Parts: sequence; C-alpha cells; structure tokens
Amino acid sequence: MDKKNNQNQPRFKDGTVVEISNYLTCQKFFLQRIDNSFNLSSEAVNEIAAVCSQRELYDFLFKETFNGRPYTIHDAIKFLDWAKKGWEEKTYFIFLVKDLSGKIVGAVDIKSANLEGAEIGYWADRNVRGFMTNAITALCNIARNAGYKSLYGLVIPENSKSIGVLERAGFKKKKEPFLEKGKHYIKYEIIFKQAES
Ligand SMILES: CC(C)(COP(=O)(O)OP(=O)(O)OC[C@H]1O[C@@H](n2cnc3c(N)ncnc32)[C@H](O)[C@@H]1OP(=O)(O)O)[C@@H](O)C(=O)NCCC(=O)NCCS
Repeated sequence: MDKKNNQNQPRFKDGTVVEISNYLTCQKFFLQRIDNSFNLSSEAVNEIAAVCSQRELYDFLFKETFNGRPYTIHDAIKFLDWAKKGWEEKTYFIFLVKDLSGKIVGAVDIKSANLEGAEIGYWADRNVRGFMTNAITALCNIARNAGYKSLYGLVIPENSKSIGVLERAGFKKKKEPFLEKGKHYIKYEIIFKQAES
C-alpha cells in the first residue's frame, strides 16, 4: 500500500490490552482486541454465547436477523472468526471487555475504517453493570489516537440504556429519529479535536 493510502487508514497503537474501571464498583476491566493474538477457547465461546442469549440483549441485537432462533456457540465461533478477519483486513475493529479473571463481560466495536466518521456498537452482560460508559470512553480515545475524526452510534428510541451510555460518554444527539430499513434510529455523534501537528 502506498504512503498516501496508508494515511487514510486507522493507525491503532501496538498493544492489545487497555485497562478501564467499572464506575459502580471501581473494579478493573480491560479491552482486548479480537485479532490474531486472541486464543479461541471453549470458555470464550461459551461466555459469549451465554451473554448474547440474555433476553434484552438478544432482543435488541439478534432477534430480527436470527428470525427468533437461539444464539448458539456456533454463532459465537463465527463472531470470533469474523472479528479476527476485521483486524486482519483492517476494515472493522472489535474488542472484548473482560474482567480481571479473564471472563468476557461485553464487547465494543468500530464498524468501519472510515476516518471521517465510523459507527460504533457494544453489548454488555446484564449481570455486570457499570463498565460500559468507561469502555466507550476508552474506545473513543483509541479511535482518536488512531486518526478517526468522529464516531457515531445509531440507537432506537426505546433503547434508553444505550442512549444513556452514549450521552455519558459525551456523544451528542445529531438527528431526530430517522427511518432506516423500517426502523427509527437516533444518531448520536462525538467529534474529536485533533492534536495540532
Ligand atoms: C446498552 C448497554 C451496553 C448498557 O449497559 P449498562 O450496564 O447500562 O451501561 P453502563 O455501564 O454505562 O451504566 C450502568 C450504570 O452505571 C452508571 N455509570 C456507568 N458509568 C458511568 C459514568 N462514567 N458516569 C456516570 N454514571 C455511570 C450509569 O448511570 C448506569 O446507572 P443506571 O442504570 O442507574 O442509569 C446494555 O444495556 C446492553 O448490552 N444492551 C443490549 C445491547 C445494546 O442495546 N447495545 C447497543 C445497541 S445501539
């Protein structure tokens, strides 16, 4: 790839682990890239399948695309393989959130390499509250350092917990609900001040 094209790619800093804390408990958590250094284990697969099967999360993220069929360990394996592909091709970037014991409690992602503005996504274990806002703040720092100018989240108006995360992390409502693929979404955006060179 030539230098000019390279400049339009996110440049993530080396190192796969970023520490965050849980706002409610002050416990340490960390973000880990699902790249080639990630070891696919049956534990990881089971933990992801268990969290993604939780009712509220499943209903918001999977029910429609899965036509109501259950989220299985095969879906978790596919998710991890797909996540590795994103880092390998540098087209989308998924991080797991783990607690200090290494248990997977959530995930956050940047859905494209578009430095002008990329969508983010996230999910959390409903039994482990209090880390997601800080995880998204950390994701914003990672993105800004990688060269992104802004990030945005698309959220349906009924998803008040998700709206809370975006607002606490400093995202601002950009548009009143707009219709996309038969659903109303609100766009929340954060624009980064770039360091002067
Ligand atoms: C959206 C989702 C990740 C939010 O998880 P969460 O545990 O509510 O998020 P947080 O950890 O940020 O917040 C939990 C609590 O800690 C508090 N908190 C956390 N970090 C905080 C911070 N930095 N400052 C102030 N309060 C904070 C919040 O106020 C919240 O308290 P409340 O529930 O009494 O309002 C979770 O509900 C989920 O996985 N939903 C299903 C998937 C989904 O909807 N994804 C988004 C699609 S757009």
